[in-house]
Amino acid sequence: MRALRPYRLDQSRFQVKLNQNENPYDWPEEIKEEVLRRLRASPWNRYPSVDAAPLRQALAEAMGLSSDMVAVTNGSNEAILALIQTYATGGSVVYPIPTYSMVRPLTVIGGATPIEVPLRPDFSLDAQALLTKAIETNARLVFLASPNNPTGNLFAREAILAVAGGSPGVVIVDEAYFSFSRTSFLDEVLRRDRFAVIRTFSKAFSLAGARVGWIMANSQIIAEVSKVLPPYNLDLFAQTTAIVALEHRDLLEKHVRVILRERDRVFAALSQMEGVHPYPSEANFILFRTRLPAQEVFDRLLERGILVRDVSSYPLLEGCLRVTIGRPQENDLFLEALEEILRKR
Ligand SMILES: Cc1ncc(COP(=O)(O)O)c(C=O)c1O
Repeated sequence: MRALRPYRLDQSRFQVKLNQNENPYDWPEEIKEEVLRRLRASPWNRYPSVDAAPLRQALAEAMGLSSDMVAVTNGSNEAILALIQTYATGGSVVYPIPTYSMVRPLTVIGGATPIEVPLRPDFSLDAQALLTKAIETNARLVFLASPNNPTGNLFAREAILAVAGGSPGVVIVDEAYFSFSRTSFLDEVLRRDRFAVIRTFSKAFSLAGARVGWIMANSQIIAEVSKVLPPYNLDLFAQTTAIVALEHRDLLEKHVRVILRERDRVFAALSQMEGVHPYPSEANFILFRTRLPAQEVFDRLLERGILVRDVSSYPLLEGCLRVTIGRPQENDLFLEALEEILRKR
């Protein structure tokens, strides 16, 4: 524990926030009003639903599953930790690197040993190398994020299925960015015993503030994970907000389409800049490398009020930064600032 550092970001100065893969569009006032109306009508002195049954039911219907195949969590971070605690404490967790930065600390906090396997230089999944490590260490869990963060690419379906087919333990596919890639492994949940998919309301649903994620797996896995999750892990606000979000998901879809259009536009603009190499993305962010040191680009963008993520210390990502797709005007400010920084050097 002493070797770990708490997850902190310096977010003291910025005008344009493009560092956490959030959705730049807040909820429409009328949907917020609907949440507030339901909260006012609910008793605050009572505990909320102990297993968030109404939300689980709503999610199950939306996903075409039965509600005993769904568990809800306090953000998908809690989903990752709960699966580690359920299956891997005292054993090992295998995952490719670079990936979501919390996977390693959550593995350690969950009392498991992290076993890291590098992605190929093109960021594709080396299924054979991953499987070899999983078998060698008798891994209780394999974690894959697809699309992967911070690289933005999807892993090949055959590679993920090969890992799922040959791993000795449970395989988790984290689909936090599913709505931007529209590629899912949810159908595998119905077919496999040791397979789970994680999703979140934090990205496409514009709901990072409510902290709601969910796990989909067969009912035995959900029954086991439910023993580990603290009772009332989702408060009344989180449960209510997520239910309202599901009821209005067609409205939110409009913003996803704008973000996808903007992702293409930002990618094209970065590709045309001299000294910049963007990597194709299936998520709501773009990884890019420039000819200048990443720290310098980060600092100079911040001087202009633009906050991105310096990911240059991650394996394979020397010189790389990650920018979240914002509103069109925010993306313009980012592109103009980056161009100016590169022109001046
Ligand atoms: C791949 C991945 N998984 C999970 C999360 C955590 O999301 P949350 O806890 O907000 O659901 C993130 C956040 O950026 C992520 O990139």
